[in-house]
Amino acid sequence: MVSNNHRPICVIGSIVYDLVMTVEHLPSVGETVPASGFNTFIGGKGLNQAVQIHRLDAPLAFYGRIGNDHYGTEVLEVLRSEAFPTNGIKIVDGDHTAIGMIYVAPDGRNLIGGFRAANMNYHVDEIDQITHEAIKSASIVSLQLETPDDVVEKCLRLAKDAGVPTLLNAAPWRDLPDSFQELVDYWCVNEIECGQFANCDIKTADDCTVLKDHKPIIDGEQIWVVTLGDRGAAVVDASGVTEIPGIKVNAIDSTGAGDSFTGGFAVGIAEGMNPVDAAHFANRVASQSVTKLGGMTGLPKRTEILVSKIL
Ligand code: RIB
Repeated sequence: MVSNNHRPICVIGSIVYDLVMTVEHLPSVGETVPASGFNTFIGGKGLNQAVQIHRLDAPLAFYGRIGNDHYGTEVLEVLRSEAFPTNGIKIVDGDHTAIGMIYVAPDGRNLIGGFRAANMNYHVDEIDQITHEAIKSASIVSLQLETPDDVVEKCLRLAKDAGVPTLLNAAPWRDLPDSFQELVDYWCVNEIECGQFANCDIKTADDCTVLKDHKPIIDGEQIWVVTLGDRGAAVVDASGVTEIPGIKVNAIDSTGAGDSFTGGFAVGIAEGMNPVDAAHFANRVASQSVTKLGGMTGLPKRTEILVSKIL
């Protein structure tokens, strides 16, 4: 029997080719804002999370889709250059690799529009036997919401049936079928997504106490981790809210910080940390991720993370 922390973390999710403009301020509706810089990066919440896991030296199985176009070709080239496992990436003739249009302001905050293309064309029948086996033998299965609900739900159910812990980064937020409540063990959301779920403004760890009324949390069936930008994060479980204080860094670009956190959290749980320690670890990982331009560029290696007793 393979010990839990040697089993791969299985991520099924989105791949996006990001077009990034650095602007003086984020545009308002109808406003034209000149850009001082333009770069392209590969990203997508699923792939960013998977790359973060890979850079933390954890074993990984990743499944996603790209089009048979030059964006997809570049995605594969970049991933192969860092020995990322690309065998689960399907190249689909006639489909378009997803595109992200990202504006980044001087304080690192961003605004993202997405052409979801190949990610949202993921068909539930593409969760084949190989993917099923990877889910069953994973230490934890991690998904996001840049692929269709039925794909996410099927993967969660296969994991649940196999007794494998499940993590959902519910981003971008959308109303989900009730069935998700029994399928997700760890919910990872940012303050906006948490506010959309709870129907109120969330800015601080204290605000997250609103989640304490959520029955699956009261019953100990779910743990919610809410990222709060430079304020850190909060872990909400049956015992209450634990604040994970933010770490001060020179933020250049917050794109992918939530993905870095989610990837770090998955690694922490896979390595046997309790959720609060896993969130502290993820917080350190994510704080490093914002110090470079480009979501994926900033995702740190394990050796780059500040030394701490948890590491
Ligand atoms: O979370 C950041 C990611 O979200 C970007 O890479 C962009 O592609 C969007 O999907």
